[in-house]
Amino acid sequence: MPNWLKKAIFYEIYPQSFCDSNGDGIGDLQGIISKLDYVKEIGFNAIWLNPCYLSPFKDAGYDVQDYYKVAPRYGTNEDLYRLFDEAHKRGVRVILDLVPGHTSDECEWFKQSRLTVRNQYSDRYIWTDCVWNRPPNYPLVAGNADRDGCYMLNFFLCQPALNYGFNKITHPEWQLSYEDDRVRATFDEMLKVMRFWLDKGCDGFRVDMADSLVKNDEDKTATASLWRKARIMLDKDYPEAVLVSEWCNAPKAINEAGFHCDFVLTHHGKLTRNATRNVVNGVNESYFCKTSHASADETLKTYLNELKQTEGRGYMSLISGNHDEIRLAETLDENGVKLYFTMLLTLPGVPFVYYGDEIGMRYLPQISKEGGFQRTGSRTPMQWDSGAPNTGFSSARREDLYLDVDRRAEAPCVNEQIADSSSILNVVKTLSKIRTDNAALQADQSLSVIHCSDDGVLCYTRGKEVAVAFNPTDGEKTLPCEMGEVIFKIGDYLTQGSNVLLKPQTAVIFKLKQEI
Ligand code: BGC
Repeated sequence: MPNWLKKAIFYEIYPQSFCDSNGDGIGDLQGIISKLDYVKEIGFNAIWLNPCYLSPFKDAGYDVQDYYKVAPRYGTNEDLYRLFDEAHKRGVRVILDLVPGHTSDECEWFKQSRLTVRNQYSDRYIWTDCVWNRPPNYPLVAGNADRDGCYMLNFFLCQPALNYGFNKITHPEWQLSYEDDRVRATFDEMLKVMRFWLDKGCDGFRVDMADSLVKNDEDKTATASLWRKARIMLDKDYPEAVLVSEWCNAPKAINEAGFHCDFVLTHHGKLTRNATRNVVNGVNESYFCKTSHASADETLKTYLNELKQTEGRGYMSLISGNHDEIRLAETLDENGVKLYFTMLLTLPGVPFVYYGDEIGMRYLPQISKEGGFQRTGSRTPMQWDSGAPNTGFSSARREDLYLDVDRRAEAPCVNEQIADSSSILNVVKTLSKIRTDNAALQADQSLSVIHCSDDGVLCYTRGKEVAVAFNPTDGEKTLPCEMGEVIFKIGDYLTQGSNVLLKPQTAVIFKLKQEI
């Protein structure tokens, strides 16, 4: 387990929208390099970069055309090597997005695979044996290639599934076992891709749809067996490199597949973040919404259970948001966002902050670009400077921007938030520093819930001496617990004997009076 993960705080950068260095209207690698000091200053010490490989961008780069080549719109391979270098000089790691489940339908491998003449790529994708053989329950495309067969999709129409074989074989005339030599080459190629970038200085991968490789693999044992091979390779040749999965089942991803971290996404519901899916029939049920008065209990149970199962073996990764989710600030007010960050940065595991969430960037509805659909509203350009054209994202003409910036008068901007000591940005910066400076708050320290009541009050301890208390509601609430020295607070509280009265929308990090 790479030691640096214990202190890691990741920052997810969507390259299209972060910073445009050459005025062509789209973000690029040089732009990211120019903002590394900012990343470090806020306290992030690792970056996850969304796909930046050659692609026709029908799914924003998750449709990879060439795994070994940077998309020209972002720069060159050399620019990416330089990003690794410049980040490392500042003590910041960089992980890339690995998309192993599918390629673009414009990938050269797929062009070869669809030919009638057999070649080394014929089995690289999943094909039925004849175009008329289209068993239901499989996402098959018929009649779109010269080859006599249908190919299987992994996600969108532009993303044919790479062939890692099947676990349970239901149609032996076209399904290969995941142990068959003919499909082994697919995972070997992915290992090669990983080696290529690791040798150039990358620090690991966030693995897209990591559980999607082997088909008919209900318990995911076959898919897990492939990832264990990757972990063995890393342990042997790249012991400092990390593997983070988009699996959303930490016990499987960590204990069985060997990932170092797994994302905690939607199934943890109300606690993890406030996507619109927490708004049910117009009522915001998020734990962090001041009017919801939701108890943290229900979702904590799932979280604690997974935490226990993975303890000592890997980390769960909570996020502030990501490129697929509705932004945090869409349905939480400013205090709610700050409370959410207090939890994100004081829980165990490895936290991930999505670019722009640290200033409370908002969701822009009704736009869609490059297969983003409703996700596009969370992918708009970073707002750097309220006084600069296009809020400092790009010097291009407005009509040439990849996506327009949020031009609403109240749109948050980095420059204004730096100057305001109570801004979300400064809260995130302070919390990052507190986490980095306090061993008790880092990834592998224990978590115990000491109070969790139906009225929304929650208090947990980290390690032996630090505790974090929350009252996200709009009413005053009592926490039956004595606080020690206060390290950080949002909102306010009053000590009342051996109780604490937490004012509305309050979070407090404190040292316990007695070590537990
Ligand atoms: C990524 C999405 C992408 C999909 C297909 C997801 O999990 O996060 O943005 O569209 O995988 O690659």
